[in-house]
Amino acid sequence: MTNSDSNKPDSPSLEQWGSFANTTSIEAGSQLAERLLSAEHQGADALESKYPTLRPSGFNEYIGQERVKENLQIACSAAKRRAQPMDHVLLHGPPGLGKTSLAKIIAKELGVGLRTTSGPVIEKPGDLAAILTALEPFECLFIDEIHRLPRIVEEVLYPAMEDFSIDILIGQGPSARSVTIELKPFTLVGATTRSGLLTSPLRDRFGIVERLEYYSHQELEIIITRSAKIMNIHLLDGAAKELSQRSRGTPRIANRLLKRVRDYAEERADGILTPEVIHNALSLLAIDTRGLDTMDRMILTAIVEKFHGGPVGVDTIAAALGEDRGTLEEVYEPFLVQQGFLARTKRGREITELGLLHLGLSGIVSKQQKLFEK
Ligand SMILES: Nc1ncnc2c1ncn2[C@@H]1O[C@H](COP(=O)(O)OP(=O)(O)O)[C@@H](O)[C@H]1O
Ligand SMILES: [Mg+2]
Repeated sequence: MTNSDSNKPDSPSLEQWGSFANTTSIEAGSQLAERLLSAEHQGADALESKYPTLRPSGFNEYIGQERVKENLQIACSAAKRRAQPMDHVLLHGPPGLGKTSLAKIIAKELGVGLRTTSGPVIEKPGDLAAILTALEPFECLFIDEIHRLPRIVEEVLYPAMEDFSIDILIGQGPSARSVTIELKPFTLVGATTRSGLLTSPLRDRFGIVERLEYYSHQELEIIITRSAKIMNIHLLDGAAKELSQRSRGTPRIANRLLKRVRDYAEERADGILTPEVIHNALSLLAIDTRGLDTMDRMILTAIVEKFHGGPVGVDTIAAALGEDRGTLEEVYEPFLVQQGFLARTKRGREITELGLLHLGLSGIVSKQQKLFEK
């Protein structure tokens, strides 16, 4: 479709609508919706299926992100008081920071159902139409990885989000006519690790846009202590603190490491989790004192060794490491930038003095550069 930036996109043709258009009733659409909603998608975490209560179930259990939490709490209670659907919400930020958890909390707070699907699962406009028409009034629809929605599907969302209706084109040529299907009011919660990839018409249709930040060591310490209780792990004094400093600012990583250090303690240290045992376990996992893992260090080292410290384009780094550009940008870089180890400049990525210091290369590289500049 060519006019995707305009406010009123063309309705998709019957062919483009795919399976939904071929069904004769909304009923058939509902069945399709069920399949798409229950479809397995990324993020089904083994830890969470084993310990379902690990996921915070309400705002009171959700640690940190105070500003985001307050904004959402206000929006939820205002919507409830007015008996109106809540504004559509876009949550963005690196993986494992609590986007899916927040979506569930929002629905719970509103006292409505949550339907979950994800961008790559919805292939055709008809798939989305089936989901939308099957929603109960005021329900929340959670679309994970919303940046991966095909453009032609995304365009169905515009009128759905704005007017709670979808337009479908029936027939072809001069006899074609557009039919509008009214939807029940709903709240869309979108999550993405890459808000930069969202088109502006989609982004503009979210009333609430919140960015999740990396967690502080103190917040992670609270999360780790809570998770340890749920997983029945006994942590000695200082152990949660040691673990929090090495969790990359990310609750999901904190929980995973907690499980790994328990295994280590059981096999190597009589099951007792002291700060020292945690230190040893994480060293064995090649996670350093700042929480950087092997890949993080490889990125920084490659920039120094192969590209004289940068600036170097992200595609070049990705090729040098055999890593996917998207993963580099959405999983690794944000943390390295936040820690001050890596700088994003117009000319590319550059290692910082702090980054060199962390790699233990500070003196060496500065000297080389001075020689080079002479
Ligand atoms: N604010 C938080 N407080 C407590 N635990 C959290 C928080 N955010 C995330 N977690 C933990 O991390 C896990 C991953 O969070 P999730 O919501 O799936 O992240 P995302 O969807 O952003 O990748 C959750 O199951 C939960 O155990
Ligand atoms: Mg998620």
